[in-house]
Amino acid sequence: MANTICIGAQWGDEGKGKIIDVLTEHAHIVVRSQGGNNAGHTVLAGGQKHVLHLVPSGILHKNKVCVIGNGVVIDPVSLVDEIEGLRSRGIRVGRNLLISDCAHLVFPYHRLLDTAREARKGRGKIGTTKRGIGPAYGDKMARTGLRVGDLIQPGIFSEKLKAKIQENNLILKVLGEKPLKFAEVRDACLAAADVLRPFVTNTVVYLHHALLAGKEILFEGAQGTFLDIDHGTYPYVTSSNTTAGGACTGSGVPPHRMDRVMGIMKAYTTRVGEGPFPTEDGPFSDRMHGMGREFGATTGRARRCGWFDAVAARYSCMINGFDELAVTNLDGLDGIERIRVCTGYRLDGKKLSVPPTDIVQLGCCEPIYAEYPGWKKPTAGVKTFRQLPTEARAYLKAIAELTGARLAIASVGPKREETIFV
Ligand code: GDP
Ligand code: IMO
Ligand code: MG
Repeated sequence: MANTICIGAQWGDEGKGKIIDVLTEHAHIVVRSQGGNNAGHTVLAGGQKHVLHLVPSGILHKNKVCVIGNGVVIDPVSLVDEIEGLRSRGIRVGRNLLISDCAHLVFPYHRLLDTAREARKGRGKIGTTKRGIGPAYGDKMARTGLRVGDLIQPGIFSEKLKAKIQENNLILKVLGEKPLKFAEVRDACLAAADVLRPFVTNTVVYLHHALLAGKEILFEGAQGTFLDIDHGTYPYVTSSNTTAGGACTGSGVPPHRMDRVMGIMKAYTTRVGEGPFPTEDGPFSDRMHGMGREFGATTGRARRCGWFDAVAARYSCMINGFDELAVTNLDGLDGIERIRVCTGYRLDGKKLSVPPTDIVQLGCCEPIYAEYPGWKKPTAGVKTFRQLPTEARAYLKAIAELTGARLAIASVGPKREETIFV
């Protein structure tokens, strides 16, 4: 398998964890290059359900190496919890995990600031995961962040953290929040540092040598294209580059070493958090939630659901350059009589084939729908493309064509074996 960047093509939760887990069998290394523990990637394997937040979804496979790259923001205490949770479920986490010394750290003040800023926004809130992601990337860009390389040097770390806590306590005071106790934060971080130290290295050098040795690498995107800080529905986005370019900057692997880009998308659309979502549909959301589907893997929030948005998907393909598509949750559409697909937007009497970058305008767009006949037979359990109901095949072909990339995988259930290679 070539070096492949896997990107969420929509608003996150497209089923990246499941697809990465399936593809890991054919790769040597899995790399996360952006985001933090705002991500929740679900993998069902060996009769167990795992929700990965910071650790790449390849970790469940033996003899594969997982890398947390420089572009990720790491809450050290949360990462230790995640590693211990995996170990308690019998998953080996040892020399198969590497953490970049250049990755930035998330601290309790980032979480408090995230929460306080959201509360002050009231109805205008972003609906963040409250994991401190925005403030942590803010510090990184302002060149005031602390990195993993600092964390593993107790003396230097304590000094830098003290200054950061003093500064942030002033900000928290203005926001009416309680100050943090330096010693408490330091002790928790240094305890986490003792667990994490053996994993820490210059992952750029590791990946460079791995490429020279002909190893094949999977890049596991977190969040999705429309949550990208540059290309998403700003300000209702996350704070990293979730699109294909982020895999290069967030790992230090040069662009010409990437062989293909795979877009992962649901057969419909979901979004969690606030912000415009043209194809959102109340009855469709109720149907999904009634089936026990579409509750957030990180926060448990009910996801907003809607029809497949081909205008958005095509734009996503433009930004990421998808060569191939993995369409997940096809089974979520089982039994629906007429399936809608948005093929254009109408705004002020004009037809648009590209989403407006202005979110007020995007919020005013009316979807123009095409309808596709549904199928009655369940798709769950189907093993080959030919065994899918004719209507399901036609639907998949249509959404791939509208998006502009080749359909490579159709997923009809959360388990590894519920995957159809087309
Ligand atoms: P991620 O963040 O992109 O990894 O996606 P999440 O794990 O947050 O959400 C995707 C949800 O869909 C999880 O509960 C998966 O177990 C589930 N899932 C993935 N693919 C399929 C599928 O083809 N069918 C069904 N029924 N569930 C799926
Ligand atoms: P995975 O990797 C879906 C959303 C939040 C909010 C916005 C900003 O599992 O697909 P943040 O906490 O990042 O500052 O929140 O982004 N969001 C996600 N939505 N899936 C995710 O990750 C998300 N990570 C963040 O709901 O709207
Ligand atoms: Mg998720």
